[in-house]
Amino acid sequence: MADAIVTPWEVKGTVDYDRLITEFGTSKITPELKHRMEKLFGKLHVMLSRDIYYSHRDLDVILNELESGRKIFLYTGVGPSSEMHIGHVIPMSFTKWLQEKTGANLYIEVTDDEKFMFKKERKLEEIERIADDDILNVIALGFDPEKTFIFKDTEYIRNMYRLATRVAKEVNFSTVKAVFGFTNSTNIGMIFYPTLQMLPTFFEKNYCLIPAAIDQDPYWRIQRDIAEKLGYRKAAQIHSKFVPALTGIGGKMSASHPETAILFNDDEKTVEKKVMKYAFSGGQESIELHRKLGGNPDVDVSFLWLKYLFEPDDKRLKQIEDDYRSGKLLSGELKQILVEKLNAFLVEHRKRKEQARKLVEKFMHTGALAQKMWNTYYE
Ligand code: TYM
Repeated sequence: MADAIVTPWEVKGTVDYDRLITEFGTSKITPELKHRMEKLFGKLHVMLSRDIYYSHRDLDVILNELESGRKIFLYTGVGPSSEMHIGHVIPMSFTKWLQEKTGANLYIEVTDDEKFMFKKERKLEEIERIADDDILNVIALGFDPEKTFIFKDTEYIRNMYRLATRVAKEVNFSTVKAVFGFTNSTNIGMIFYPTLQMLPTFFEKNYCLIPAAIDQDPYWRIQRDIAEKLGYRKAAQIHSKFVPALTGIGGKMSASHPETAILFNDDEKTVEKKVMKYAFSGGQESIELHRKLGGNPDVDVSFLWLKYLFEPDDKRLKQIEDDYRSGKLLSGELKQILVEKLNAFLVEHRKRKEQARKLVEKFMHTGALAQKMWNTYYE
């Protein structure tokens, strides 16, 4: 993995996920942990059974809490730098499943401050517009409006600024420099920002579980160093791998490079065009060769997207895999399966997004958890 880069702002190269576990000091999700989850939650989410969620910190502690009947809370987030893409479905729909299984409160941070300060050329108004669209996308994925609080940092900051001062005081510049690679030319907003991403882990005194891809891990390392000093628990995490870019497994998809991603707002024609043109194929150069030698689903992005997101039926997925490997299924046919699944998901999603407009106030201000949050000033 010498050339791979994984930071909260950049994922480049072919990621060696096992090596990240060693480098970041996290742990693999073992069969024993999966067994405990199965006992608690019933059938495992396919993102667990297919090892897309593969790493953790203190998941065993979280399971101890749940097995003893104690409450935990969930926290995740999104950065409104550009429109949401289907990679974001991984943390969001898995978090939704965890909320259904645990009944836990969930906090979803929308980091408009982060994306404004990080991107030099960005106007705050533009970021706000993207944030509002992200919020509709998140709501459309179907969380419990009474137990979920969605907030934008610039809006909720007044309730948490006192806590932010306490957290910020515990973290030195040398730490954020080492953890995030900040330099002398990093603006001071970005240097302060990690405080904001840590704050929701202190919203309750219970244990917090954070589902996210492994790129967000650096924040939690700092949180875990300071939490107990401040009278809180170390946050637990469950980390996923990245849905590969449409263009190939060597990177994370990004909405600013349209050929790498499918966006929630892409219409049916665009989806078809992008998949047909850009989806990296594990197939052979000609139909004759493909029939003879078969394709390689391990690097074929259409297959991988079905595995990660769009084919929940294990038997059906296995059939597609076998047919592709044997050469029975051609690359174009495999792409067509993905196009149909993607469009079915997106058409339904956009309908739910229209309905979501009516729920924004509930998630952000008037639902039970939202109201409680606006009446709480964190010390
Ligand atoms: P952001 O907007 O970069 O990403 C949002 C969430 O999506 C995950 N993610 C992916 N997962 C699988 N495959 C992909 N291709 C992919 N791309 C992105 C990210 O890991 C993340 O979980 N700073 C954060 C916002 C944030 C946050 C949090 C995220 C604030 N608090 C707590 C997670 C947990 C950000 O910019 O995320």
